[in-house]
Amino acid sequence: MDRYAVFGNPVAHSKSPLIHAAFAAQTGQALRYEAILAPVDGFAGALDAFRQAGGRGANVTVPFKLEAHALADHLTPRARAAGAVNTLRFDADGTLGDNTDGAGLVRDLQANLGFALHGARVLLLGAGGAARGAVLPLLECAPASLVIANRSPAKAEALVAHFATAAAQCELRACAFAALDGQGFDLVINATAASLEGSAPEVPASAYRELSLAYDMMYGRGDTAFLAQLRALGVPRLADGLGMLVEQAAESFMLWRGVRPSTAPVLATLRAHID
Ligand code: ATR
Repeated sequence: MDRYAVFGNPVAHSKSPLIHAAFAAQTGQALRYEAILAPVDGFAGALDAFRQAGGRGANVTVPFKLEAHALADHLTPRARAAGAVNTLRFDADGTLGDNTDGAGLVRDLQANLGFALHGARVLLLGAGGAARGAVLPLLECAPASLVIANRSPAKAEALVAHFATAAAQCELRACAFAALDGQGFDLVINATAASLEGSAPEVPASAYRELSLAYDMMYGRGDTAFLAQLRALGVPRLADGLGMLVEQAAESFMLWRGVRPSTAPVLATLRAHID
């Protein structure tokens, strides 16, 4: 049976084995998917051992996404743009590195939540790895504008400079949180790690006035601090990152097996487990 795995440290909390088992059952694909805890300084060795033992591909999570990017023999354009790899496929001519996180986000926004990115005014909060992975897939949907705001504004400016040539007709600019005061957006995406600390980015509330959707890449039981803040402000629609998690997994499954699983039933099952 073909073997796949998610590598991380920690990894016990990962929902990927559950998601991929559900995809495999649904599409009739014979595969086994496990979670592998790699030592922080031993990712390359653990991955190699898995490949030698017949592994066909892998997902990669914290803290190994940069290392996976460095060790891949070939990269997809979106993995190169993200500077990080969350999906590996062991091919005859070497290891292919892909990044399905941004595509998963865009699919969740458009297919699951019905939000049209084309022509929208989008505010992306954060300028770390999670934000960087989202920029190219968002730009490819041709929003009217994409504003990247970060607590440390220089990092947002560096991201904008990096993606300037990909922006085409889209207005792409960086902004400090305070300078968002009074600007209007249709969609805000929280890609900061603030929710991990139970806090929300310190963005002036006036920047949230015209929103139709607020999205947090994090998820958990109940609202994140960010979503709680936006709910209190009366934003009409809120979503957490559980849909993105399932959609990025579906993109990985597609890369490995050439079959697109149906995500809705898997998302519903996960949601029921979390709530
Ligand atoms: P990830 O891979 O999750 O993106 P990262 O690369 O370490 O993690 O980036 C963390 C992001 O969350 C950064 O944009 C960080 O802002 P700074 O660049 O200013 O550090 C942001 N972040 C973390 N905690 C935050 C908080 N409490 N408020 C606002 N932004 C926060």
